[in-house]
Amino acid sequence: MAEKSKILFIGGTGYIGKFIVEASAKSGHPTFLLIRESTLSSAAKSNLIDHFKTLGVTFLIGDLYDHESLVKAIKQVDVVISTVGHLQLVDQVKIIAAIKEAGNVKRFFPSEFGNDVDRVHAVEPAKSAFATKANIRRAVEAEGIPFTYVSSNFFAGYFLPNLSQPGATAIPRDKVIILGDGNPKAIFNKEDDIATYTIKAVDDPRTLNKVLYIRPPGNIYSFNDLVSLWEKKIGKTIERIYVPEEQLLKNIQEATVPTNVFLSIGHSVFVKGDHTNFEIESSFGVEASELYPDVKYTTVDEYLNQFV
Ligand SMILES: NC(=O)c1ccc[n+]([C@@H]2O[C@H](COP(=O)([O-])OP(=O)(O)OC[C@H]3O[C@@H](n4cnc5c(N)ncnc54)[C@H](OP(=O)(O)O)[C@@H]3O)[C@@H](O)[C@H]2O)c1
Repeated sequence: MAEKSKILFIGGTGYIGKFIVEASAKSGHPTFLLIRESTLSSAAKSNLIDHFKTLGVTFLIGDLYDHESLVKAIKQVDVVISTVGHLQLVDQVKIIAAIKEAGNVKRFFPSEFGNDVDRVHAVEPAKSAFATKANIRRAVEAEGIPFTYVSSNFFAGYFLPNLSQPGATAIPRDKVIILGDGNPKAIFNKEDDIATYTIKAVDDPRTLNKVLYIRPPGNIYSFNDLVSLWEKKIGKTIERIYVPEEQLLKNIQEATVPTNVFLSIGHSVFVKGDHTNFEIESSFGVEASELYPDVKYTTVDEYLNQFV
């Protein structure tokens, strides 16, 4: 069997990054993490750092804003996975420049892990955030860097524990607000599964220069069906309050950060149907659960059981 690629993570101590670093190390990829010195010694991240140490992760001190440290780290690996957060998305041009200079990278995964940003119908502020990711795609392609874009749709941990109710800290049991008519289908994937699929794609020629869509059949739900599933679990009917698109657009304009961000992403997904309103064509994409049928992903049905 061919040797597993060496993977460098940039943003591996972040929310989604930590799951993918773990999946990488556990699946036997030599796993490297670019980390700022301040983070390596931070009390808040010490448990995570210790966990990474037990997994055999190699720490490379560096910073997205220190070009030399980036080039030095990249030269030691085959594949670079960026999971930087929204504030650093635009600065991934610095990773692209370092990859060009290093000259050895077989595959780059920019920080995506959401909607397919080339196929969205969003309003501001989500529109600009998606455009930033699309611009990074264009920069990667212009430089001829081999890539995989992971379109993981919604992180289950962000959207299911409160059924996507802005600001709610618990799952609704009496009434639920539904954006639009509740019929477009959205996709909710558990973070560990997103990580597993991402790592499986690293050395897979079928995912080279493609979008990897994570669309497992058991995780595709309209808002109405999601509420019905929850009602069945708790044996109770919940009042459904629908927000028509026109009202939602007004609410987005009047809201401040982060509510406007949350609502505008909700508009794209729940009203416009941007997770599922297009077919995956082999010219640009592949679907993860079809490529890797052996992965036993957690379904939305199973995920919701913990809240009953
Ligand atoms: N689909 C969904 O439901 C969903 C939800 C949320 C996010 N996302 C997407 O997931 C991706 C990752 O977001 P996230 O929320 O997981 O990120 P995050 O938690 O904000 O993590 C950011 C990471 O970037 C690192 N970082 C920041 N500045 C850096 C620098 N100067 N040099 C090196 N590293 C630096 C941070 O390191 P430190 O530990 O040192 O600070 C951290 O590891 C984004 O593309 C985001 O849009 C998707």
